[in-house]
Amino acid sequence: MTEPRVLRALCPGSFDPVTNGHLDVFSRAAKQFDEVTVAVFVNTSKSSMFSVDERMELLREATADIPNLKVDSFHGLVVDFCKEHDLHVIVKGLRAVSDFDYEFQMAQANYGLAEVETMFISTNPAFGYLSSSLVKEIARHGGDISGWVPPVVQSAIRARVAEGQYL
Ligand code: PNS
Repeated sequence: MTEPRVLRALCPGSFDPVTNGHLDVFSRAAKQFDEVTVAVFVNTSKSSMFSVDERMELLREATADIPNLKVDSFHGLVVDFCKEHDLHVIVKGLRAVSDFDYEFQMAQANYGLAEVETMFISTNPAFGYLSSSLVKEIARHGGDISGWVPPVVQSAIRARVAEGQYL
């Protein structure tokens, strides 16, 4: 008899920083798959508010209540990371039609490259407009981000803004 297959999903992204919209997708993915890996893409050509290590630490703290989720990072192609770690499916959140073109292109490319499947979760409408960039922009100008990111991320953003590098 064949062993039941353990299904492993990957949620890749920049997560600079993680928002409540990301957390909604992670927790829903964790209900559908046996194991979920959230991996920060190491992109040296993109400026960021948080280093990769800081982003991973924020992710770990924000997802501590999801037992079948682990945090990692990767560089290079996402499909190579999937193969190396035996991850079967990429899971992405779709906020609106405007996300679709880009996500669909990546999904097709990743299938074309290595037959890695992508599945989409429709974002909770409460977070439909939410993005890491928007959160950072609002925080830079002193706006209230408490409903959009977990408390640990809120403190980290406030501290970074207070350092004065992101005004
Ligand atoms: O949070 P983001 O910035 O929208 O995430 C984009 C990400 C990291 C998922 C995407 O850029 C990616 O997978 N990059 C890894 C490099 C790669 O495999 N590129 C080809 C994808 S078709």
